[in-house]
Amino acid sequence: MSKNIESHQIEDRVFLPADEFSRKARISSLAQYKKLYKESMEKPGVFWGREAKELLWHKPWSKVLEWKAPFAKWFVGGKLNVAENCVDRHACGERANKAAIIFEGEPGDKRVITYAQLRRDVCRFANVLVNNGIKSGDRVLIYMPMIPEAAIAMLACARIGAVHSVVFGGFSADSIVDRLEDSGATTIITADGGWRRGKIIPLKENVDSAMEKFTHIRKVIVYQRCGNPVIMAPGRDVWWHEESVKVSSTHKAKYFDSEHPLFILYTSGSTGKPKGILHTSGGYLTGTYTSFKYVFDIREEDVYWCTADVGWITGHSYIVYGPLANGATQVMYEGAPNQPDFGRFWKIIEENGVSIFYTAPTAIRAFIKAGDHFPANYDLSSLRLLGSVGEPINPEAWMWYHQKIGGGRCPIVDTWWQTETGSIMITPLPGCTPLKPGTATLPFFGVDAAILDETGRECKANEGGKLVIRKPWPAMTRTIYGDKARYKKTYWSDYEGIYTAGDGARCDKAGNFWIVGRIDDVLNVSGHRLGTAEVESSLVSHPAVAESAVVGRPDEIKGQGVVAFVTLKESHSPSEALRKELRDHVGKSIGAIAKPDAVYFAPALPKTRSGKIMRRLLKELVSTGDISGNITTLDDITVLANLKASMTS
Ligand code: WTA
Repeated sequence: MSKNIESHQIEDRVFLPADEFSRKARISSLAQYKKLYKESMEKPGVFWGREAKELLWHKPWSKVLEWKAPFAKWFVGGKLNVAENCVDRHACGERANKAAIIFEGEPGDKRVITYAQLRRDVCRFANVLVNNGIKSGDRVLIYMPMIPEAAIAMLACARIGAVHSVVFGGFSADSIVDRLEDSGATTIITADGGWRRGKIIPLKENVDSAMEKFTHIRKVIVYQRCGNPVIMAPGRDVWWHEESVKVSSTHKAKYFDSEHPLFILYTSGSTGKPKGILHTSGGYLTGTYTSFKYVFDIREEDVYWCTADVGWITGHSYIVYGPLANGATQVMYEGAPNQPDFGRFWKIIEENGVSIFYTAPTAIRAFIKAGDHFPANYDLSSLRLLGSVGEPINPEAWMWYHQKIGGGRCPIVDTWWQTETGSIMITPLPGCTPLKPGTATLPFFGVDAAILDETGRECKANEGGKLVIRKPWPAMTRTIYGDKARYKKTYWSDYEGIYTAGDGARCDKAGNFWIVGRIDDVLNVSGHRLGTAEVESSLVSHPAVAESAVVGRPDEIKGQGVVAFVTLKESHSPSEALRKELRDHVGKSIGAIAKPDAVYFAPALPKTRSGKIMRRLLKELVSTGDISGNITTLDDITVLANLKASMTS
């Protein structure tokens, strides 16, 4: 197998859940896990049918699964309303006055929204959408800060059958344009701004810039969050609060087919523009509902907090749909972890009695760096369970998280999954799985995970290979929006009828999965996927740039940092000013997370004789400072000396 999938990590420490935790857990022994896992593999219809029946269906399905690889239909013929499941189901019963969302804004403002209130808010906004001409099947772009209205907007779309496409608030105007063009959205829901590190992110202004390039937008609905001045285009732009008073707070839900599209979420691939990952209704909801219930072992009295942004899949599945379908209480926080200082998260945990906390390794590493005194100053004894997502968690970070945040008593669920998988795929179950720092451990129910070599043979224990899923699962993506061929080619062409995740991994003797990282040209920067091709195409769109190659290098906090090698056009010469300009250019065309940490001006890039850029050499150069790998296919050997020189100039 190729070298980059080798893993040399050896980890012997094992952590078992405390008896007290196991006894109360939904899945309290490995035997129980194995029994249910076996059922989910051998009789998926029975397992998933039972889970789905815990939800509210207007019309029952006739068949649990119809699988014509690589296209799946789940709960065929069934009809439901996703928003009704997440909101009304609880608002009508004993949970009516239970907090659904405990919101804290970055400036310190607080709001508690009960399920009954959430229903009124979602219904009212569903009426606003209808009033503004939005119909079932229409695509709606959502570009919002991390405030309850982001979830309300998503649920209101779901309620009327409109397909939402949430764009992360840190993305730029150009990224909005790409997503509008691809999805064909005609409506945007946004806010005047959002708070981040004490500043206002000018969301509406970004939308206005996007609108200069994309002119098909009929309506922009603007929520007033920060009160910063914005320009409202007459006829096109309307205020959320003004529209809301024109409509009622009741709305009769319509029912949609189980395979009705719920949302499109764009994610980076190894080539070209981001892919619109399409998720549908019944299967996605069942997958997120079930995984949230078992992985977070949710109980009525829990206060759950996931620190992701709704702009990412984690925000969709484990802030909006999974927790709300379970009737959970959750904390939602708008701002940065270090505002006003690195104690903010721990303060929120203390003040709200958070019992389940789900965050990313990159955040944990930033906290480690900031110092132990921040968490030590707060009472974190309400916590009973911790989670991690987004990238492999390094054992040191795991240990710190376990001891300093979890007080040594909280299990950590290291959850592996993707935008495409929709729900958690490989994960410990906190009441029964022996934990080892650094492994996501065992497959979740219904997930037939394996590691294969290039020939399709299953790898032996500890042998590195490609992580695949061999059976369909309910929350799987149905296709890349508008591009079935790309869907087939990207995920289903390595092995017949098998999903390839794009990650390298190995499985140890106990069956634990150790994820090594991406094996395609996708970087993982602070837990966010970033295609090197996207950054390269942004760089070459700058008038000074002839060619560029972008690679990742290890970064203590971010996991990976972005390094760009740039060849300039004859008419331009390297300078510090140009370096800054190129970084800003990428920030403007994609978003701040894509800004290269380093830009090196290289007279030429290393290429094969057929002209292919040898990124492998660049990767080695940026991580080790030298090149020792095979260079026999390199066309011009002098390029290397020049490259090394470029890194010191
Ligand atoms: C990586 C995020 C190791 C992986 C939910 C995957 C992880 C990509 C883990 C998906 C984990 C996510 N351990 N690696 N627990 N979780 N990844 O689509 O490379 O933003 O392919 O979904 O993140 O990123 P995405």
